[in-house]
Amino acid sequence: MWYCTNCGNESSKWMGRCPACGEWNTMVEAPSEKKSAKSGSKGLAARASSGRKPVLLKEIDRSKEPRLMLGLPEVDRLLGGGIVPGSLVLIGGEPGIGKSTLSLQIPLASGLKTLYVTGEESARQVKMRADRLALSSGEVPPDGAFPRTGLRSNAEAGGTSPDNHGDEQTLVFTETKIESIIAEAEEIRPELMIVDSVQTMFTETVESTPGSVSQIKEVAAMLLRFAKESGVPVILIGHITKDGYIAGPKILEHIVDVVLQFEGENRGSYRILRSIKNRFGSTSEIAVFEMTGTGLREVANPSEMLIPMHEAGLSGAAICAMLDGTRPLLFEVQALVSSAVYGTAQRSATGFDTRRLNMLLAVLEKRAGFHLSAKDVFLNMAGGLKVSDPAADLAVIAAVLSSNFDYSLPGDSCFAGEVGLSGEIRPVGQTDRRIAEAARLGFKRIYVSSYTPLPDNLPKEIKVVKVADVPALVKALFKNA
Ligand code: TYD
Ligand code: MG
Repeated sequence: MWYCTNCGNESSKWMGRCPACGEWNTMVEAPSEKKSAKSGSKGLAARASSGRKPVLLKEIDRSKEPRLMLGLPEVDRLLGGGIVPGSLVLIGGEPGIGKSTLSLQIPLASGLKTLYVTGEESARQVKMRADRLALSSGEVPPDGAFPRTGLRSNAEAGGTSPDNHGDEQTLVFTETKIESIIAEAEEIRPELMIVDSVQTMFTETVESTPGSVSQIKEVAAMLLRFAKESGVPVILIGHITKDGYIAGPKILEHIVDVVLQFEGENRGSYRILRSIKNRFGSTSEIAVFEMTGTGLREVANPSEMLIPMHEAGLSGAAICAMLDGTRPLLFEVQALVSSAVYGTAQRSATGFDTRRLNMLLAVLEKRAGFHLSAKDVFLNMAGGLKVSDPAADLAVIAAVLSSNFDYSLPGDSCFAGEVGLSGEIRPVGQTDRRIAEAARLGFKRIYVSSYTPLPDNLPKEIKVVKVADVPALVKALFKNA
């Protein structure tokens, strides 16, 4: 069998290009999948006599399965209100982004009896990390500073057993053979199991090396089976690289119940945990963390960190009122427009689709007569945010023009609107909520599409400026430039 390391597509022969996802050179051989399939079916036959019977849908008692609180309110919110017993949650992200840190903060914060399996670190390393993290919850701050709030006591977080201290409830297990892990878990019966990482685990039923596609698939399938049968929720950590090539989270997405993805620029200290799949809650929600010297600190109000740190009056910056999932979020878009040093102009965007940037520049050129084709344009989304909300278009255009004119925009203005190919400004979803959040944060002016239907009960403190197209925006913003 051959597998695509990008999407997990199976094929009986090698192909240069995966027919499912269209990626090149992603097919790898998975030699002994047959053997695993055989043992899998044996397992199935064994379970056939487990005495279980189909149950009527209406007779299934849902109330018996309360969710478990992990003690980190932002993570609980992302999961849809705590973790569901028997679910398999995958936390993916690039190496060094903070997956192991988060996965250790969870048992410490929740006080749940946790089996913490690690194939990456020694028990001592885990202990050292835990000590470092414990500093943030300790009563006595080490340097007399105010303690960070990354870890909350279980009582405060509304957890199940206020008297438990996380480190008395966490069992560290340095093992990579999945059969031993599951056997141990069945014996211990923890309330939560964490496995760091799927790439280091292996099963005897598959012959290939740990980290290969077939190993990862089988390990995840076995953990899923364990979770469903025992009711123990399992958090599985998986590495991905920037180009997503290493076998991992991508091929697991359809096996697991929940996928949370860590994002963020490694050089910045902010990390974003995004829910990209959730069988028990909504997707495209995010939680924001700050990596501190003592672990990850939850940033309960991300808008406050994403809006400017500098004095107002710099050109090339515009604030966007974005909606991430269900939560409005204000952040700064920064642009730098300068004369091209080399023959061809450079276009580069961080956290924003470069093709979309090129389209917006073409609209500025064609519909508003700005000759930017000989200019380098750099675009950056504050805080390492990756933005896909079309409402960012208007702020991008405003930031680009601001830099181009070297004329700063008023710091109390923000933007929410999509820009169409003919230069028209189109309405975006839930504009009223964006306006409400902007008003709450003290903004005095928000630019939206003229075509936005708005309710009457908008906050009075903020002026809603309606613009119909790009030339109208230019007139409204830069008449003095
Ligand atoms: P880690 O959780 O090991 O990343 P991953 O498991 O995703 O590979 O964390 C990596 C980085 O976080 C590492 O460079 C050190 C830093 N870090 C802190 O800044 N503060 C801390 O308290 C901890 C534990 C780690
Ligand atoms: Mg790690």
